[in-house]
Amino acid sequence: MKINLEKTFMAAKALSLLAMSIASFHASAEDPIGPVTGKDVIYQIMTDRFFDGDPTNNQPAGFDDSLFDGSGNDVNKFQGGDFDGVVAKIPYLKNLGITTVWISAPYANRRTASTFDGITYTPYHGYHARNYFQSNPYYGDMSDFTNMVSALHAEGIKVVIDFVSNHTSNGDEDGRLFEPDRDASGNFVFDANGNPVDFNLDGSVENLVADPKGVNANWFHNLGNRENENTSRFDFRYKDLANLADFTHELPEVNKYLEEAAIFWKSKGVDGYRHDATLHMNGAFSKSFRDAIDSAEGGAVTHFGEFFIGRPDPKFAEYSSFPTRTGINNLDFEFFRVMTSVYGDQSQGMGEISNFYNYTADAYEIENQTVMFVDNHDVSRFLRVNGDRRALDLAITTMMVSRGIPNIYYGTEQYANGKDGSQDGGRIFMQTDTDFGEDERIFKVIKELSDLRQSNDALAYGLTSTLYSTDDVLVMSRKFFDKEVVIAINRNKFNAMTVPNLGTSLPVGSYGDELNGLLSGASNTVFNGAGGREIASFELGPQEVSVWSSNADLGADPKIGDMQSFTGRPGNQVSISGTGLDGAISVAFGDTPATVVSSTYERAIVVVPTMPAGEALVTVTKGAAVSNTFAFDVLSGDQTQAIFHVEAFTDPGENVFVVGNIPELGSWDPSKALDGFHNPDPNQWWKWFLPVSVPQGTTVEYKYIYKLDDGSVIWESGANRSFTSSSSATGVVDLPEDTFNEPSF
Ligand code: NOJ
Ligand code: NOJ
Ligand code: CA
Repeated sequence: MKINLEKTFMAAKALSLLAMSIASFHASAEDPIGPVTGKDVIYQIMTDRFFDGDPTNNQPAGFDDSLFDGSGNDVNKFQGGDFDGVVAKIPYLKNLGITTVWISAPYANRRTASTFDGITYTPYHGYHARNYFQSNPYYGDMSDFTNMVSALHAEGIKVVIDFVSNHTSNGDEDGRLFEPDRDASGNFVFDANGNPVDFNLDGSVENLVADPKGVNANWFHNLGNRENENTSRFDFRYKDLANLADFTHELPEVNKYLEEAAIFWKSKGVDGYRHDATLHMNGAFSKSFRDAIDSAEGGAVTHFGEFFIGRPDPKFAEYSSFPTRTGINNLDFEFFRVMTSVYGDQSQGMGEISNFYNYTADAYEIENQTVMFVDNHDVSRFLRVNGDRRALDLAITTMMVSRGIPNIYYGTEQYANGKDGSQDGGRIFMQTDTDFGEDERIFKVIKELSDLRQSNDALAYGLTSTLYSTDDVLVMSRKFFDKEVVIAINRNKFNAMTVPNLGTSLPVGSYGDELNGLLSGASNTVFNGAGGREIASFELGPQEVSVWSSNADLGADPKIGDMQSFTGRPGNQVSISGTGLDGAISVAFGDTPATVVSSTYERAIVVVPTMPAGEALVTVTKGAAVSNTFAFDVLSGDQTQAIFHVEAFTDPGENVFVVGNIPELGSWDPSKALDGFHNPDPNQWWKWFLPVSVPQGTTVEYKYIYKLDDGSVIWESGANRSFTSSSSATGVVDLPEDTFNEPSF
């Protein structure tokens, strides 16, 4: 947990307000409007599967017309949804109450279909990249994309794009990667609408950059497909996922191409990235990649990634440490599994939800930024696990009040259950499968609770505690200072349950149901009992939910709810969310004052000051009032990669790690070394390697250690080793092989 909600009642530190010498962050085409926080609700759209706002792009020139279906029947073909279709449905999205859309990767994908077992597969989903600097013609051209971003921003809706940096494509094109024509100075050439042009007059607006079977083949690992789930950590990260050509993230040119590509889309105003397949990438790449994106003009944006785990999963520790290791949050796969087992197949009781909040508060460093989901495009729709709509209402309600950021898979608000229980069957075409009505009960539940998330910060930033739980009932509280929301849920379909008087910190008074009885909830009272305030005993009918809110005004004193990013280097522009952040505030990282770029009651934008790297407790001060703290990780500088190689004749249970004298290498603290070395070749099991993210142009001291399964540590003997990192921002140093200095006992 990064946030400390204990208010520090110490006297204000004598912080000199910096003269407002604000660095100029000049406007790009469209600026991001801010990171996605716990106040937001995300709506996940597969762009092709939402709404056809422009039929003229359904069969783009140069593409085989048969790739398009449009009837909604062939889930493997294009259906016609596009950027204009998202714009057309902005009133619908506003009425639903959501504040962020996550859309498919917006750039050009492979142009051909692939056929397996007589079935034609098209890249309607956007996961088969071909040219990262051109919009996907099925979704519209670049001006359609930027129009969409502007139209959403004008309504206060943030835009997250899916971004695939793990791979290009598979099938007939075999992963070939392209880029637009360049002018004499090496810049890409675009027309006034932002589309690539045939500048070199060779008859094409693009050029081949890399081909797994041709030019620059080393841009891809080319190690073959990863066949199953029981492979090594090395295979997970370096072999192909579903035969998709896997990028060599250890190559400076690949880092440069992908960083430029991501920054290119940031300059179009995107507010966040959903990073595809983070489980399958070298974490040092992911860390440098986020660092590059957030350091580009426009400030820190939101990052969350798909580190796909099962349950239980031996990769849990790798998953839960991923945000700490990279600065990229996780999609909350644990939340998904808990929703499935508690409300879906009901193999676990309601107590598992409270257990889940407890163990993830320990295991997740920053649980308020985890992105929750009940189902998505890679799994069965919930209603195929449990066809009871009311059970889905309860799962969605739980997500809407939980710590983290709720993400609603498109169609859920229509009780869509897909064509079948497969992931592909769930990817319905909204336009043909639903009427975009606004009357379903679940639509209204989402609307009410989105509004509550935005008005009561207890849901966005608060701590979670369980007031009562049984197999069928959960009563929980979310609390941010004096703001509090209490939620009571009975999942039992047939029986009412009686809840006894419960001790509470809610003020005495009566509370109406925030859902206005949509899930049969009722009002209740809080009274002064013998041992303090109590919620009066109440009955919860079958599948009933009540939501009671106490939305105290937190006043003028500053309080920190969240920070994005939670890591960055000096000079990065980052966002503090909370209350009381307006007026004459000063912000400090530890004792070092930071420049405040702008601030309102709910949000301050500040610049990470020049200071030593490592953890810094951020505070906001106004007059005599000092806020609670947020633990921010300051990086030493522009992140590059160093690839360590070591020969180590490990005994079973000994795992190789590296530590060193910079925060990125744990400042000699073995507990901060979170990523173990890989062994690619079982026939040379003593040869280990690991890419690590280190600041540019820095001389670093390091040593290898063994961490044992029992938690103990063995240091290698001898003097500290040293190397100097690459001086280039996208550089990589591939270090010569060391030999572990076995200590003698
Ligand atoms: C995970 C995505 O969510 C999935 O839909 C896609 O097929 C793979 N990554 C490959 O990009
Ligand atoms: C212990 C290591 O053995 C040594 O090499 C290193 O210099 C120190 N930790 C730093 O505190
Ligand atoms: Ca269309």
